[in-house]
Amino acid sequence: MRVLENSFPVSEELWERAVRLIPAGTQTLSKGPDQFVRGVTPKYLRKGKGAHVWDVDGNSFIDYPMALGPILLGYDYAPVTEAVIRQVKEGTTFTLMHPLEVEVAELLTSMIPSAEMVRFGKNGADVTSAAVKVARASTGRDHIAYCGYHGCQDWYAVTTPRNKGIPKVLSTFMHQFEYNNIGSLEKIFAGNPGKIACVIMEVPGVDPAVDKDGKNFLQLSKELANRNGALFILDEIVTGFRYSIGGAQKYYRVTPDLACFGKGMANGFAISALVGKKEFMKELNEVFFSMTYSGDTIGLAAAKATMRELLSKPVIPHIWEMGGRLHKAINSFAEKTGIGFRITGKPPRGGISVKNRKGEEDLLLKSIFLQETVKRGVLFGGPVFISYSHTEEDIEKTIAASFEAIEYLKVAVDSGEPARFLEGEPVGVVFRQRN
Ligand SMILES: Cc1ncc(COP(=O)(O)O)c(C=O)c1O
Repeated sequence: MRVLENSFPVSEELWERAVRLIPAGTQTLSKGPDQFVRGVTPKYLRKGKGAHVWDVDGNSFIDYPMALGPILLGYDYAPVTEAVIRQVKEGTTFTLMHPLEVEVAELLTSMIPSAEMVRFGKNGADVTSAAVKVARASTGRDHIAYCGYHGCQDWYAVTTPRNKGIPKVLSTFMHQFEYNNIGSLEKIFAGNPGKIACVIMEVPGVDPAVDKDGKNFLQLSKELANRNGALFILDEIVTGFRYSIGGAQKYYRVTPDLACFGKGMANGFAISALVGKKEFMKELNEVFFSMTYSGDTIGLAAAKATMRELLSKPVIPHIWEMGGRLHKAINSFAEKTGIGFRITGKPPRGGISVKNRKGEEDLLLKSIFLQETVKRGVLFGGPVFISYSHTEEDIEKTIAASFEAIEYLKVAVDSGEPARFLEGEPVGVVFRQRN
């Protein structure tokens, strides 16, 4: 396969200007240069079409982070783009409400098992925050049992290493439990009787474990929460509209009290949704959740067009099939080489794990893989998301590039001096906290 001689003068010049003006240089930490191999990866993208992106220097790539998940159908996907253009011409936001608020709420309630009522936000953090407020309002309790990542808002960010500027006292309300370890959640309830307002969790790319009675971890967590008077909130910001049309809750047969959606719901336009049971959602009559752009018509028009595609085209089967093919081919090749490389997770929601001979995650080795794939026209990063626009040809090209990258990685590992094989700077620690 041809190794591209990409260069990035425009990217570099923009970055020089950015660091003078923009603290941290980026608006979204996971898109920042330290999440990719600096020197061999562009820093700025200008255009996308289908599953392909073009950087500001004119280099093109097959994309897998897909803007960190929102691009479910593909970049510039015609039915969504056209719906948005039509809406822009009619008006993006108004003095009064817009009918799309009702139409998209009706669509969501028809698709998502737990959705009896709906409120909109813009980012995932808007609705995970609203969910926790609703749970606190409904129970009169303050404490939160959590598992996974839920956004940059204070109540969650206080639990991360990026907790500067947040009153430490908030951390006293936070209790982390471990995915697929019901004992860890039981312990939180036992240690804090009558205090836990909600259990909030996401489903990482690992199936929930099933107990001897056939109940899975999500179902058990919900039962445990409800038995103790707490709400069960499923954070479906990533899994929503990917695992199934009704999200991971439908796929894993659990109906949460509240659920949070964002990312894929509008194919890259800004909108998120809190959905849930009427008895809890009605707290929002009084809970303060009101923002200028919550009902902006562009996100709503894009969401409506995206959902219509989801309901009328085999979007979900496609991402499962293409993702499955990618995971299987790359993982069986890596296994044969004996390199600790894996595409992890489920076909609609993957990740990249590269372990060294001690069995530890190794960012230097991961960087070598990212370097060799980006040089072959494939932009991998943290998450591996498949869109409806990834074609069989895209997947075959990606598999071929990955085979070569893994072979190169093996040579690097076998040499005993892998750092010599890295041309740029390695990726930094991924900030997102997971368990
Ligand atoms: C599971 C989960 N919840 C919440 C969020 C926060 O969403 P946002 O970054 O749109 O605020 C994210 C973002 O990656 C997420 O992955």
